[in-house]
Amino acid sequence: METRLCDIRNLNSEEALRGLKLAGEILRGGGLVGFPTETVYGLGANAFDAEAVASIFAAKGRPGDNPLIVHVASLQQARELVEFTPLAEKLAERYWPGPLTLVLDSRGLVPASVSAGLSTLAVRLPSHPGALAMLRAAERPIAAPSANLSGRPSPTLASHVLEDMQGRVPLILDGGAVEIGLESTVVDARGECPILLRPGKITQEELRLLCGDCPAAGQADCARPASPGMKYRHYAPQGQLFLVKTWREAEALRLQLLQEGLPLPLLLLSDESAGELQQRGVPEEQIISLGSEARPEEFAHNLFAALREADHRAASHIIGQSIPAIGLGAAVMNRYTKAASKK
Ligand code: TXA
Ligand code: MG
Repeated sequence: METRLCDIRNLNSEEALRGLKLAGEILRGGGLVGFPTETVYGLGANAFDAEAVASIFAAKGRPGDNPLIVHVASLQQARELVEFTPLAEKLAERYWPGPLTLVLDSRGLVPASVSAGLSTLAVRLPSHPGALAMLRAAERPIAAPSANLSGRPSPTLASHVLEDMQGRVPLILDGGAVEIGLESTVVDARGECPILLRPGKITQEELRLLCGDCPAAGQADCARPASPGMKYRHYAPQGQLFLVKTWREAEALRLQLLQEGLPLPLLLLSDESAGELQQRGVPEEQIISLGSEARPEEFAHNLFAALREADHRAASHIIGQSIPAIGLGAAVMNRYTKAASKK
């Protein structure tokens, strides 16, 4: 299958209008489309079409027991698919359109495979203008996981989608670099307070302030199981990733690897640490800066691209500097530690 790439950065351009029209036709016809959102790129299919949904799992190599998020163009469309609770109303009012996914009781309109047989369904109204334009062109809800091969870092550029999906999908809409760089926050919104299933840009601290409480799934005070997807190995580069806290630890580990006769490691560092290590003679090309230590949003924005870059450079050993797991740093560290684990 030939994969077409279509630039939709300017939504009013002729290329964008043609691409969006084509996306609508492909989606209505049961095909797959790669598209940008404010979090990461998604791989969309008509949520009502069981065969189209099956082809998402096939294209990604995704386990069938990992449910998909259904993307909608309006609150009204979401209400038709799931049973809104007062809590869901409050969260949607505050955060939609935006990077929050709500898990609610399904009304049973989409095939069971979308939610991997669960009685719940995850829904999200994205804020990215290109995503909204595509959802409107499709004229129906779109089931979409992140547009990476299962296990690889989520795509934050159209070129990442092409890397993983070339020949597997007919169309990728190129909206440029995504804004956030980590997948949406997922909460179970069926009860009195949200239960955090996956950390993201909308933080646990923020949800706690708005709703009084926001336990994470799997915590002692929370009986609900974590989001099925959280148990899989994710985001992993091909090389071995070691996490350290400071530039001193990075430097020490680098020396140790060199003494063991291992190939030069690639360093993923804060801007500040990158400066320190360059002063100490580490060549610039062995370092990728993820952003300032004080700005976790920069780490969020750059992490997945850096993990992919490590693969492009065939880095067999990677030393990554962590940041405090506070606020958005918690979402960064959730992805980073998974990338470092061999599970
Ligand atoms: O930002 C995002 O959410 C991106 C963009 C494309 O919207 N999508 C995304 O989808 O990250 P995916 O499939 O890579 O991750 C969906 C997550 C998984 O961890 C999955 O287990 C969880 O949401 N999930 C989906 N439906 C669920 C349900 N009914 N109950 C609990 N967790 C669910
Ligand atoms: Mg994913």
